[in-house]
Amino acid sequence: MGAAAGGGRAARALRLLLLLVLALAAVEYLFGSILDASPLRTYLYTPLHNATQSTLRTSDKTSQVWPKKLTPSATIENSLKNSSQKVAFSNSTNKNNSSRDISNMTRQNVSEDFSTPLLITKIMEGIKNLVTTEDGELKVSEPSLPLCDEMPSDLGPISVNKTEIELDWVEKRYPEVQVGGYYSPPNCTARHKVAIIVPYRDRQQHLAIFLNHMHPFLMKQQIEYGIFIIEQEGTSDFNRAKLMNVGFVESQKQKPGGWQCFIFHDIDLLPLDSRNLYSCPRQPRHMSASIDKLKFKLPYEDIFGGVSAMTLEQFTKVNGFSNKYWGWGGEDDDMFYRIKKMNYHIARYKMSIARYAMLDHKKSAPNPKRYQLLSQTSKTFQKDGLSTLEYELVRVTRRHLYTHVVTNIDERS
Ligand code: BGC
Repeated sequence: MGAAAGGGRAARALRLLLLLVLALAAVEYLFGSILDASPLRTYLYTPLHNATQSTLRTSDKTSQVWPKKLTPSATIENSLKNSSQKVAFSNSTNKNNSSRDISNMTRQNVSEDFSTPLLITKIMEGIKNLVTTEDGELKVSEPSLPLCDEMPSDLGPISVNKTEIELDWVEKRYPEVQVGGYYSPPNCTARHKVAIIVPYRDRQQHLAIFLNHMHPFLMKQQIEYGIFIIEQEGTSDFNRAKLMNVGFVESQKQKPGGWQCFIFHDIDLLPLDSRNLYSCPRQPRHMSASIDKLKFKLPYEDIFGGVSAMTLEQFTKVNGFSNKYWGWGGEDDDMFYRIKKMNYHIARYKMSIARYAMLDHKKSAPNPKRYQLLSQTSKTFQKDGLSTLEYELVRVTRRHLYTHVVTNIDERS
């Protein structure tokens, strides 16, 4: 009996000991270092950067990534200061990613001062504006603004002033336009990035009127744009289409990231309604459908001349314009055939919106070869256009209200 009682006590003592060991192990597992808790730690702290690799890489290369002169928290403070004018960004995926960023960042880099929920929220806002540059440094990005309205509310019919004016005077009127003729809305993120390509020669009196009309017109539409005046040097016949190809290539070189939409624009046409949005829809758009000098009537259904809009993709798919139309006429019809051949169709605003005023000028001599060239377009357009474009770039100058590209296109490609 005594032996049985002694055995029972020993068993209880053993169970107690076992429990004690288990409890200790649990404590160590959670707080200590005896057991390997790395899977748990990994789960708690490390995977977060994967979801945000494109905007923020901090977990594995912190010392290389932070700017050397600033401590991480100084950088964050910096970004907080900079983010104070910012408007919140919109999509929920970003929100999630950013909150993941901050949990990672807070643990690794942020001092005790940032421990309150309010400060954490502020830091999160700051971190949304940090981006990793190509050379691996973190810097503060521009605060993201809300998207501009698709159709700003104060658009409608406008008048045109055809009186001759001095370019110097026009330049003083639009200080908000940046050098090169660039503009992007200050209070919202533009939906469209548009290059306005204007073939040009000997039309100085038109240039000032054009810029004086177009800048306020485009600014009102809240788009990001640049105006490119592409001047043909020399005395050969004017080649509007080839100049537009040059304008397409050269304007693209001027903008990091490039333009998405191209408006090919005669300098003598001025839009009469600001609802005529200078953007690029899914189909190439003929903009100048309704011109005062043509009694506001469309001359023929397939016309694509005057002012037209094409996306980067549309323009490259049709191989740009032909380079072969020297003298007046035909090059726009040629573009129409290319568009049709690539299964696009022409879009237009209604005639009450697509209205333009035409400035006076001498009529140029029509190109007698245009019909013969047009009869070949459908068969030859892949071998005549952007793919065969050759020109000499004489100079590119960024003036206040436009980028001036002077080119010698005489090489008959
Ligand atoms: C020409 C086009 C021009 C149109 C309207 C056509 O005959 O080929 O280039 O745009 O007339 O003037």
